[in-house]
Amino acid sequence: MIAKSLDLYNFRNYHKIHLDLHPKKNIIIGNNGTGKTNILESIVMIADTRSFRADDDQDLILKTEDTARIDLKVDDDLYRMIITNSGKTLFINNTTIKRSSDFIGKVNAVLFKPDDLEIFTRGPRYRRRILDLEIGKMSKKYLEALLTYSRLLKDKNALLKEDVINDIYLKALEERMILPIKILIEEREELIKYIDQNISRYYESLTDQKEDIRIIYKRSCEADEEKIKDMIDNDHRRDLFYHYTVSGPHKEDITFMFHGSDVTNYASQGQKRLVMLSFKLAIVEYIIKKTNEKPILLLDDILSELDIENKERLLKILPKDIQTIITATDIQNIKLDSEYRLFRLEKRRNTSDQREE
Ligand SMILES: Nc1ncnc2c1ncn2[C@@H]1O[C@H](COP(=O)(O)OP(=O)(O)O)[C@@H](O)[C@H]1O
Ligand SMILES: [Mg+2]
Repeated sequence: MIAKSLDLYNFRNYHKIHLDLHPKKNIIIGNNGTGKTNILESIVMIADTRSFRADDDQDLILKTEDTARIDLKVDDDLYRMIITNSGKTLFINNTTIKRSSDFIGKVNAVLFKPDDLEIFTRGPRYRRRILDLEIGKMSKKYLEALLTYSRLLKDKNALLKEDVINDIYLKALEERMILPIKILIEEREELIKYIDQNISRYYESLTDQKEDIRIIYKRSCEADEEKIKDMIDNDHRRDLFYHYTVSGPHKEDITFMFHGSDVTNYASQGQKRLVMLSFKLAIVEYIIKKTNEKPILLLDDILSELDIENKERLLKILPKDIQTIITATDIQNIKLDSEYRLFRLEKRRNTSDQREE
């Protein structure tokens, strides 16, 4: 998929900005604080319907204004999000889209950002969120299973906290959980297996070094209805004791291994960065395989962190004809071929202007 143009109104530090995007490479140059990440964030809002850094959507609206708008034209369709203090509204070609699951995944973008390394340091919840986000964009079935499971889990945990527990209701909730659990485990397993089989190859193309890298799925159960039922039954007493559902997809995790040791404690910072990039590149390849569409790649400030060699290799191994938007503080560290468009952001009081070269 190709994003043709982006228009922002009162989004973050932009009062109004229009970018005509190049189908291949777009480079956004600007000093710190000029709004480079804000541009990528607006595209992620359209892709995922939520931000990777704002906890509150209100932060996305230009201070002193009350409504922000993002218009992203992708192929022949116009995707629009309007953010006000009472929430956000989604549109495709001027038609309101009520359910976010009908919007998520229509535009697929993969963001590479410096703090992606948090995947190694933060807790399991963070890693599950990444899995859910990536798979959810490719599979509506997964997204719906996730919504159903979360709702049932919430009801079950609330029930487990009551003084007198209605066993029939509890059993009914558990029964309805089986199918969504199966879907979640199945699809997580498929993605993780694919990454596991390909991550070392990407690492090698980035570094020219052969390393044994694995990603391990710590699943709660096999993706089999009988086994899931057994897991639920076996945990029944512990659930009652802890007043909480002790196992299931909401407890799963992934671990990255580098020559048999946990990457978190074993690999250097530079190696972690390359493992992370290899992980993302494997996801991009998986998305292309599953959806038959090339996602838009957003590279936020990551080139500045790589050695010249890794940088050049990264730009070289990106899938062919994939649209990329790269941000950087200066252009010196980017080797350019002929097909690109350059945008320079300049700070003017509280908003930024953009100059196209
Ligand atoms: N809601 C908002 N209203 C006005 N300015 C904002 C808002 N949110 C963020 N900003 C400004 O955006 C700038 C940061 O933009 P960012 O895209 O992170 O910059 P960078 O170019 O370093 O990536 C900061 O100057 C910040 O004050
Ligand atoms: Mg930034």
